[in-house]
Amino acid sequence: MKALVCILLLLETFVYVVQQQVDGGSQQISSKDGRQNPPQTDTLRDEASTDSQQKYNMGIPDIYTALRELTATVTEQKANIRALETQLREQQTFILEEMSKKIEEMSNLTLSQVEELKKENRDREIAFSAGLIRSGYRDVGPYTTDSTLAYKKVFTNIGDAYDPFTGFFTAPLKGAYMFRISIHGPGEIPATVSIYKNGEHMVTARDVQAQGRLNASNGVVLILEVGDVVYVRLGFGTRISDSYENCYNTFSGFLLFPLS
Ligand SMILES: *[C@@H]1O[C@H](CO)[C@@H](O)[C@H](O)[C@H]1NC(C)=O
Ligand SMILES: *[C@@H]1O[C@H](CO)[C@@H](O)[C@H](O)[C@H]1NC(C)=O
Repeated sequence: MKALVCILLLLETFVYVVQQQVDGGSQQISSKDGRQNPPQTDTLRDEASTDSQQKYNMGIPDIYTALRELTATVTEQKANIRALETQLREQQTFILEEMSKKIEEMSNLTLSQVEELKKENRDREIAFSAGLIRSGYRDVGPYTTDSTLAYKKVFTNIGDAYDPFTGFFTAPLKGAYMFRISIHGPGEIPATVSIYKNGEHMVTARDVQAQGRLNASNGVVLILEVGDVVYVRLGFGTRISDSYENCYNTFSGFLLFPLS
């Protein structure tokens, strides 16, 4: 019996020492080992177990924190992407609006340019042609002074720059103009007909035929300022004649091209 107690005591001491070593070196203590442990060692083992549990538990909050941070970041990124999408959409809308505005401006510009060109073209449409007599047949002259001829039978008067009542052409636009006269007379006495610009003699058509009828013509290109006048005069002491049907005597003019 005494020997058994001794053996038990020795065994307990051995277990205690082993337990001490195990607690100091390793934290891995199985519950099976714990059950076999004597009551003295329970406190230490529990302390070690708690220690181990704390160390193990410390990892969970880290992961939770990391997860929460990750979730927050993802949420934040989602919001950023949404904001970017909205921004992109807004920019897209803005660009489209600006583009359509520009296109409208351009088409407006084109339209106004077309209108301007049309107007410019209309301004350039200057041409007239007229015969001397509107009806019958008659001689004109001779007179004692030079006389302005009013060509009454208007064939063309685009731009209304020629006045058949005065015989004056008034330049509506600065440019180079072409003018032309043809004359016809009974002969015997000469015919002298001249183109004038602002009271200044330019060119003359002249003929005289001892027998038979006379014909002559002349033409000139003139640079005219706006408001310059061009007209035709019959020289004093000379005579022309015409008939409504034949229109031998004509005065014509047109704009060749405008000048700036
Ligand atoms: C284009 O012309 C129209 C009609 O004249 C006008 O209502 C519009 O404001 C113009 N647009 C631009 C961008 O100038
Ligand atoms: C002038 O023209 C008329 C009509 O064409 C003609 O009869 C006449 O012979 C011409 N005169 C001369 C000199 O050529």
